[in-house]
Amino acid sequence: MSSAQNNQSDIPFWLVIPAAGIGQRTGNDLPKQYQMLAGKTVLEHTLNAFLPLTGLQGIIIALHPDDQHFAGLALNDKRIDTVTGGKERADSVLNALHSLTDRITPDSWVLVHDAARPCVKTGEVASMLQALDGEEVGGIMAVPASDTIKRVAENGEILGTEVRDSLWHAQTPQMFRHGLLRESLQRALDENVAVTDEASALESQGYQPKVFQGKRSNIKITLPEDFAIATEILDKLR
Ligand code: CTP
Ligand code: MG
Repeated sequence: MSSAQNNQSDIPFWLVIPAAGIGQRTGNDLPKQYQMLAGKTVLEHTLNAFLPLTGLQGIIIALHPDDQHFAGLALNDKRIDTVTGGKERADSVLNALHSLTDRITPDSWVLVHDAARPCVKTGEVASMLQALDGEEVGGIMAVPASDTIKRVAENGEILGTEVRDSLWHAQTPQMFRHGLLRESLQRALDENVAVTDEASALESQGYQPKVFQGKRSNIKITLPEDFAIATEILDKLR
């Protein structure tokens, strides 16, 4: 039987890791997924959060067409395959999903998780799998907004305060069935919808994914100072 208590879940799923970005906002030549954190690359920390899950069937990592770094990592898990990523994150994810089409059934669960979120915990992922497994559409890891949120005009003047109760920060993993996710992403891109995460693609097609409450520690490394914050979180959590 599956149990999230012991950091474990045997619910079958496939993992897609978009890792084809160049990390422009970190302002470093080396893309953030290849920077070292506490003795390992960010990407290795990210993978290590998922590898212990017994339901993990396979991993597709989307890489930049000119990637110079992935081949140098000592990754020897046979479940890992790579595809070439695209211009935007959504294009990278879609390429990975296409590569799975002939290998899995349309109702298979796919978890999409940013390479740049190395602090997610195995137990959190296990809990999310258990919580969403009964859902038809799926859902995303997210945290309720904790700061007061202002709507601000271009000139810097505050226009009002948002009702915070119903606002959440979307994170990854985002968990959807392969067929529905692939079709929704494809349609959303064809319709020029701004697709900033998988859920937004499904929302644009009329579906209503759920949120699964995660942890604020599941940060996305975005700015230079995030490396120090991630190091601290990893030191505490692992
Ligand atoms: N990503 C991707 N393909 C792209 C763009 C982004 O696979 N064309 C991946 C990144 O590698 C990252 C995740 O999507 O793991 C989240 O994107 P983001 O944090 O924006 O990373 P970058 O695009 O690399 O950073 P920046 O926007 O600062 O350039
Ligand atoms: Mg980006």
